[in-house]
Amino acid sequence: MPVNSPAPSPASSSNVEHSSRSTPVLQRNRLTLEYRLPASASNAPNAADGGQDVVFGLTQTPKSLPPKYFYDDRGSQLFEAITTLPEYYLTRTETQILLQDADAIACRVGACDLVELGSGSSTKTRILLDAYARQNTPLRYVPVDVSGGILEDTARRLIQDYGDLSVHGLVSTYEAALADLPATDLPRRLIAFIGSTLGNLSPQHCEQFFQQVSQALQPGDYFLLGVDRHKATARLEAAYNDSQGVTAAFNLNMLHHLNWRFQGDFDPGQFRHVAFYNEGDRQMELYIESLQDQTVTLKALDLTVTFQAGERLLSEISRKFEIAPLTADLLTHGFQMVETFTDDQQDFALCLCQRI
Ligand code: TRP
Repeated sequence: MPVNSPAPSPASSSNVEHSSRSTPVLQRNRLTLEYRLPASASNAPNAADGGQDVVFGLTQTPKSLPPKYFYDDRGSQLFEAITTLPEYYLTRTETQILLQDADAIACRVGACDLVELGSGSSTKTRILLDAYARQNTPLRYVPVDVSGGILEDTARRLIQDYGDLSVHGLVSTYEAALADLPATDLPRRLIAFIGSTLGNLSPQHCEQFFQQVSQALQPGDYFLLGVDRHKATARLEAAYNDSQGVTAAFNLNMLHHLNWRFQGDFDPGQFRHVAFYNEGDRQMELYIESLQDQTVTLKALDLTVTFQAGERLLSEISRKFEIAPLTADLLTHGFQMVETFTDDQQDFALCLCQRI
């Protein structure tokens, strides 16, 4: 595919080339990785951000913690396990919808720069890449993820598996990526935000996010959004309270992570996982509940926190959407809903929108 990556800026980009002699000339330069993370977003313990977000969350009433602390190595493994649980229908259903409708999406959008926010292992995205390959339609893939390790491994696998594909990975937050997307020669951009990650943003943050996406796109460009739909409380609550306890382990793992990162003495056995559907606000709420009165110290943060028995700390929200209000909301940010793809049970939706 005749798409060349733009010249990298010297301080922040690196061209990753396999320079081994066996690499055919045409295969070279298909992989670019660009690092845009400030040092403060690093994963290392004692990272420069100093955990001020933890101090803030644990000294508020009610207490909360930023969901990013779910994702140490064990947390990422547990999350992978969640996506295959029988009760957790989201990943399976979104995959089904993609298998059904990726051809229609590729056909409508045509040749494009596919920017995926929070690409992770890009497993579901491969379905879209397959559709583009089948239709012989040019595409460059721009995965964006804060985890450099996963991004690089995934990008290398993709260029091996897709002989025509160019990948320009951004190790970046969504905000920094959207503020300055890599230049493209292709006629359209398609920004993909799948996996119902939108639901993990507060309504206010969601509005800001839509605004950033809208500003990053030109009229005629596309936005593909995967959202979980409002449904019966019992099914939602089962999805986040699985019978094998994987979601509970994932939630409580946050305490292990904080112990490691900030020299803490949380005893995760003295807390429990709580998840329920707040139907009025159309959101699942995940909490870590203290089983007794207790005091916890995070030495590296010089922080001591007390919990009362039954006190809950909010660790995640997962909003559930209805298509009509979502369509209206998107319109206020300059997006026209082109098509809503869903499954037979209408559990999940992939919304294809176009920037007006
Ligand atoms: N976005 C997905 C969801 O809301 C995945 C997810 C994010 C998740 N954080 C989570 C799943 C916490 C379980 C628990 O379902």
